[in-house]
Amino acid sequence: MLLEWVNRMTISRRELLTSAALAGGALLLGAGTANSAIPPVSYQPKPLPFNPTKLQGISEKLITSHHDKNYAGAVKRLGAIQEKIRQLSADAAPYQMGALKREELIAMNSMILHEYYFENLGGDGKAGGDIANAINSQFGTHEDWEHEFRLTGESLSGGSGWVILAYSPRDKRMYNSWSSDHTQTLADGKPILVMDMYEHAYQMDHGADAKAYIDAFFKNINWEEVNRRIVTAAGKNL
Ligand SMILES: [Fe+2]
Repeated sequence: MLLEWVNRMTISRRELLTSAALAGGALLLGAGTANSAIPPVSYQPKPLPFNPTKLQGISEKLITSHHDKNYAGAVKRLGAIQEKIRQLSADAAPYQMGALKREELIAMNSMILHEYYFENLGGDGKAGGDIANAINSQFGTHEDWEHEFRLTGESLSGGSGWVILAYSPRDKRMYNSWSSDHTQTLADGKPILVMDMYEHAYQMDHGADAKAYIDAFFKNINWEEVNRRIVTAAGKNL
């Protein structure tokens, strides 16, 4: 009888402790998830918009590795970082949020810039239409613009970064913008032509010869896509 009573009490104590632990856990969870109400965004890599065997001077092996590993990796990382932000405890220090926000910006800009980059490749490298006129009127000649764009790219060889022909709505004109990582872009710049200068974009085919890669990049520019972008960005200001 006494033993039965002790067992009952033991069970009751266990149940009590379990309930208390669960309640405490729920309280902690309630206080600890700062952003769990923010719905997650589902990011999916876009496929390459051209036949990867058809580029000149950029091999199928390089461009598919660039797409599948570097670009798709950034897309996957972005989702994982945002999940960490959603799960960050409400009592987390500001630097913890800041570190995640920095990584989020890197991954998001990497995704966006790579999509612009792939979409402005796969062409015949021959400029025409509104973009050709805009380049001529804003940079003097196409050659002057191309020289500045190429030299900006060469300045990043041996390191990493992006060269972006960007349209500024503020000035209603385009600039060749230098960026040594994914986070440095013209604040109001709308990308018109994007060149990846990270070594993964050329090292496999051209070693350290960034200039040879820039030559290949120019041979493959899809100017129709570049033209579409400037018409969309500048509209009646063209
Ligand atoms: Fe890249």
